[in-house]
Amino acid sequence: MPAADSPVRVERIVDDAVMRSVQELRVSGDQYRFVGDTAFNLGNSLRDPMSEAMAVFAGETVVGFYRLDFAPRAIAGRDWPEPAVGLRAFVIGLAYQGCGFGAGALTATSADLRRRHPGRRLLALTVNCTNHAAIAMYRKAGFTDTGELYLAGSSGPQHVMLYRLQPQALT
Ligand SMILES: CC(C)(COP(=O)(O)OP(=O)(O)OC[C@H]1O[C@@H](n2cnc3c(N)ncnc32)[C@H](O)[C@@H]1OP(=O)(O)O)[C@@H](O)C(=O)NCCC(=O)NCCS
Repeated sequence: MPAADSPVRVERIVDDAVMRSVQELRVSGDQYRFVGDTAFNLGNSLRDPMSEAMAVFAGETVVGFYRLDFAPRAIAGRDWPEPAVGLRAFVIGLAYQGCGFGAGALTATSADLRRRHPGRRLLALTVNCTNHAAIAMYRKAGFTDTGELYLAGSSGPQHVMLYRLQPQALT
């Protein structure tokens, strides 16, 4: 178990050992409907040329996973007025939750995107309206609720949230 003050970093997954660690991440029964099976999500991300499969590390331990989706309309089936990237399947393994790693991963994600994809101005996601822990985490990390509800999710209505990666372009 990594210490709670371990530095958190994110990396694109290229390594078999990291893939195996991600495949072993579990969530609680209650959380499963919010994120599904992480091994399945990893496989989908790796197969999709428009996505990047990302691992979250606390120290040298793989504690989480997410998918960056660069496809147009990746999130909520809609376009955005500025270049955006979708954050999907975000998870911190049950054994590692409650230590600040989720919050740390979001900070690291925004820094990583600003560095590797400076043309993307918005980070977009949907989150189930009953997923109070994740909503609180995203708010705290600086995401704002667009006020829009996405109704096509399989587990009920979802909030659509945005995080600004780059300042709005002057017109
Ligand atoms: C949501 C999730 C990523 C949070 O990860 P985490 O590492 O436990 O979160 P952190 O410890 O960094 O907490 C960050 C903030 O999130 C909120 N939070 C986290 N867990 C919470 C809980 N059980 N209840 C209420 N708020 C919670 C708090 O605001 C917390 O800040 P605080 O500790 O200063 O109060 C994790 O619970 C998870 O993977 N859940 C299952 C998958 C999921 O729902 N993913 C989101 C899909 S959109």
